Amino acid sequence: MSTTYRIAPSILSADFARLGDEVRNVIAAGADWIHFDVMDNHYVPNLTFGPMICQAIKPHAVTPDGQPVPLDVHMMVQPVDALAQAFAQAGADLISFHPDASTHVHRSIQAIRAAGCQAGLVFNPAEPLDVLDWVIDDIDLVLIMSVNPGFGGQGFIDSALRKIEAVRKRIDACGKDIRLEVDGGIKVDNIRRVADAGADTFVAGSAIFGKPDYAAVIGDMRKALA
Ligand code: DX5
Ligand code: ZN
Repeated sequence: MSTTYRIAPSILSADFARLGDEVRNVIAAGADWIHFDVMDNHYVPNLTFGPMICQAIKPHAVTPDGQPVPLDVHMMVQPVDALAQAFAQAGADLISFHPDASTHVHRSIQAIRAAGCQAGLVFNPAEPLDVLDWVIDDIDLVLIMSVNPGFGGQGFIDSALRKIEAVRKRIDACGKDIRLEVDGGIKVDNIRRVADAGADTFVAGSAIFGKPDYAAVIGDMRKALA
């Protein structure tokens, strides 16, 4: 069975003085999703942006022929629930959160889905997968962090490969269509290894937005995945 691979550029590394153009340009260059790294300087030691930016970007998240491109909101925030609702109203399509940032994980998932968004759980490098035993049937996405959350441009943590393999086994065993996304340190020269471990969706910030030709980088990533 052939896997549909998705490239999800993280706007964390985009030029914020021209964010609308950056989003349009990276989509025209072949991006499948737009990844929003939301940070609150509480759960992680950095502060980025809120629902207002999501709302501002929504009209720009379209392909050149006008097809909507999913906004993949990764919330590195605590608490989770109220902000998730605000992002849902601001146009998020997928909302993922860290289970260790929510007091009631199953309720947070239910609330995200009740707001009409797909729900995902995010696992930091040292975070165990146990919670998946009880909620895997309720989520649409698992996001594995291959760096410690908070900053772009970090090095890929190899132990994430073992965790991706373990999640792939769990997803295949449950038989649901759940995306397996990986976030942090993804480059042209390691994306194949991450795909071979079982990932199908790849967040890349500095590998793409740090380069002069977005289409060339995304094209090289797709060649590596072919
Ligand atoms: C970490 C962020 C980064 C970002 C990707 O909290 O989530 O992982 O998305 O950054 P790069 O691709 O530059 O490692
Ligand atoms: Zn992220």
